[in-house]
Amino acid sequence: MTEIRLPELALVALVGASSAGKSTFAARHFEPTEVLSSDFFRALVSDDESSLEATGDAFDSLFFVAGKRLARGRLTVVDATSVRPDDRRRLVDLARQHDVLPVAIVLDLPRAVLEARHAARPDRDFRPDVIGRQVSELRRTLRGLQKEGFRHVWVLRSGEAVDAAQVSRVP
Ligand code: CTP
Ligand code: MG
Repeated sequence: MTEIRLPELALVALVGASSAGKSTFAARHFEPTEVLSSDFFRALVSDDESSLEATGDAFDSLFFVAGKRLARGRLTVVDATSVRPDDRRRLVDLARQHDVLPVAIVLDLPRAVLEARHAARPDRDFRPDVIGRQVSELRRTLRGLQKEGFRHVWVLRSGEAVDAAQVSRVP
């Protein structure tokens, strides 16, 4: 069982392909207001949580709010795929600007599991090969996370490992 011991003040990046279970994990272990999800911000700016065209405005808004929270000393969870180093760099930079520890919780599930979940979801209508590309991008770059600046990196590799993980906060 993985025990995720988070610093009381951290910028927590949930990292994983679509259907890895990031939003489910966030809802289970964090307060709703601690979690900033890219879908929610897409909806806030465009009324459509799946609007790819709104991605730029959604992330600008998400980062603005995340910065305000960190400046106030509030632990903040970013629920977005963050499978690309460029996406994660922005998170590490934000944490550094606020003297907060960036940490990553990676949900690296088998592709077949993700595809099966995706097929059962009414709220995700993109083609399953998108998930394959996200998984490849994550696996190709996963070893570099610590070097990117994440102070702690926890990797969960199965649905069972995700379900069993415990999250605590240490002063
Ligand atoms: N799911 C599941 N078992 C889990 C966790 C999630 O079967 N232990 C299912 C959920 O019911 C949901 C799907 O997998 O239908 C995706 O879970 P979600 O938490 O929404 O995944 P995300 O990583 O947030 O996906 P996205 O990036 O598309 O938001
Ligand atoms: Mg989600």
